[in-house]
Amino acid sequence: MLSRANQGTFQRGEVDLSLVAEEAAEIMLPLAEKKGVLVETAGEMAAAVGSQALLQQLGTNLVHNAIVHNLPGRGRVWVRTAVSPEGVELSVENTGEVLTAESVSTLTEPFQRGTERIYGDQAGVGLGLAIVKSIAVAHGGSVALTPRTAGGLCVTVRLPAAPHAALVPH
Ligand SMILES: Nc1ncnc2c1ncn2[C@@H]1O[C@H](COP(=O)(O)OP(=O)(O)O)[C@@H](O)[C@H]1O
Ligand SMILES: [Mg+2]
Repeated sequence: MLSRANQGTFQRGEVDLSLVAEEAAEIMLPLAEKKGVLVETAGEMAAAVGSQALLQQLGTNLVHNAIVHNLPGRGRVWVRTAVSPEGVELSVENTGEVLTAESVSTLTEPFQRGTERIYGDQAGVGLGLAIVKSIAVAHGGSVALTPRTAGGLCVTVRLPAAPHAALVPH
């Protein structure tokens, strides 16, 4: 799936990021409950163009990270979608340890992991964000990582918006 993403040879359709967000939260609900993390989703319909499967993988990776790299027992996650003049956005924000801009700058590189000493049962090998970045770039978009002042991270994926149906010439 990833190599198809990198080659750009995937089926394209209109994909509403707000449905991706809802689905990701639902898929990850059992893990969130196990970790005592509260996941909230909000936001407007935000239509991108691309692969439903790849964009769902992107959303699910982000929510997974937001749950596992969080404060155990009292963590919070906010999944939001938005439409701007530049395109559509999916952002996943979570509480957690305080991070520096420098420490988050390499996290989308393959096999880059944070400095957590405890590798929980849900620890990955450091490919989650690399996959997110590959998928975003393959869709003509970008990923931005911003540490939260109070601790934790905000990851924003920006993608070109689907052309408005009414404006597509026939
Ligand atoms: N939502 C997040 N909040 C805090 N840290 C995160 C978050 N997502 C990723 N990270 C940090 O980035 C590293 C890389 O993430 P990822 O590529 O998904 O690898 P993995 O989750 O397998 O460690 C993680 O090890 C973690 O330190
Ligand atoms: Mg991960």
